[in-house]
Amino acid sequence: MKSILIIDDDPLIRKTLSTHLSTEGYEIHTAMTGEEGLAKYDECFPDLVLLDVRLPDIDGIETLRRIKAKNKTATVVIMTAYDDMKTTVEAIKVGAFEFLVKPLDYVDLGLTIDKAVQVRSLEDKLSYIVSEQEKEYTIDNIIGRSVPMRDVYKMIGSVAITRTNVLIQGESGTGKELVAKAIHYNSPFSKEPFIVINCSAISDTLLESELFGHVKGAFTDAVSETRGRFEIAGKGTLFLDEIGDVSTNLQSKLLRVIESRDFMKVGGEKVLKTEARIIAASNKNLIQLVEKGDFREDLYYRLKVVEIVLPPLRDRMEDIPELVVYLLEKINREIRKNVRKVPPQILKLLMNMPWKGNVRELENALTRAVILAKGDVVLEENLPLERGERVLLPKELVPMKEVEKNYIQYVLKSTKGNKTQTSQILQISRPTLDKKIREYDLEI
Ligand SMILES: Nc1ncnc2c1ncn2[C@@H]1O[C@H](COP(=O)(O)OP(=O)(O)OP(=O)(O)O)[C@@H](O)[C@H]1O
Ligand SMILES: [Mg+2]
Repeated sequence: MKSILIIDDDPLIRKTLSTHLSTEGYEIHTAMTGEEGLAKYDECFPDLVLLDVRLPDIDGIETLRRIKAKNKTATVVIMTAYDDMKTTVEAIKVGAFEFLVKPLDYVDLGLTIDKAVQVRSLEDKLSYIVSEQEKEYTIDNIIGRSVPMRDVYKMIGSVAITRTNVLIQGESGTGKELVAKAIHYNSPFSKEPFIVINCSAISDTLLESELFGHVKGAFTDAVSETRGRFEIAGKGTLFLDEIGDVSTNLQSKLLRVIESRDFMKVGGEKVLKTEARIIAASNKNLIQLVEKGDFREDLYYRLKVVEIVLPPLRDRMEDIPELVVYLLEKINREIRKNVRKVPPQILKLLMNMPWKGNVRELENALTRAVILAKGDVVLEENLPLERGERVLLPKELVPMKEVEKNYIQYVLKSTKGNKTQTSQILQISRPTLDKKIREYDLEI
């Protein structure tokens, strides 16, 4: 048992429980409301949930029901006052593991957690057997039926049941993290943690201590001992995102852990073992980095036991209609709107965009359109489309003069009426521009 999520609206309870349980060695996450708790549950997939019954938004029972809907085997302990006993019975029926009466007795709490650990490890073994028998993968939140995506699903399916390292490559926004999660949650170790670390977001020293942990006094700010992500991941998955940005120094250290499966905390002397599966991702082409001498070749081959290359969206335009439906559903749910209609001409436009930022860019574009929509239809004017010549070309065949008029107007608008800049872009003199502005009666 490694991580615990505390859902309680009372700040004092959250604080005292967190302090007590983190000194016992658990990783603690907290939430103030049922909704926040559910979101955190998705994010950190805790081993145990301590759940208050009276919450400001959705009550504890409903929260429990929804957690159970996400994960049948979730271990949830209900915290309740005596006068809430009726609800407690209900909670147990819904599938609470145990209930504890407030004010909490730490001895009881400790015993309950121990019991949960034992039951949990039994259940883990059972679910392992079940999943071995069923060998069935649900990859329902990755959208796309194009040939390249079907190949990706096959890879996810075959790699999920193994413990091998996986390297996921693909442009930004192609779904690398989504695929990493799909591998983890379809593996026999899905109940173990899925731990993410973004290797490009933090400094080298910080990254090292985030990965391996540090002992007290290892450096100036090391006021207490910490556990690194290798340790927290346990038998689960450690997702090393943006691996191409790791310094050469850390690359050597990573290589050593992957080869020997052991490591030491920063400043520590004790050798620790890791059993985590490593999934690395990069939007840079790693082999090119290897060729340039920026990435260790031996590490590259260690990570790339299996390689999954995600196709850019522009290579699978046929997936766009289904993605649009899926993303609109997700966006509307998140921002509580109901903009689900997409006129055919807009879908056609969406299928002809370059989408350099891939699915993420499509998602952002649709989010904007949903926010700005007045009715229930996605409108062209609300989509940040890269119009280029499309907007300038008239719908019908027209005389040259009309195209010229519209184009000059367009450039004037783009330069915010700056005539010098406009004449430079159009490569015509200022007097010529002035003449055309008068002739076509253009707005500045
Ligand atoms: N095939 C897909 N089906 C549904 N949603 C997708 C798909 N691919 C990506 N997404 C969505 O697009 C967004 C970006 O995906 P993700 O974060 O996994 O991309 P990434 O490859 O890790 O990008 P980056 O390199 O920028 O970190 C997420 O919101 C994700 O849910
Ligand atoms: Mg990513």
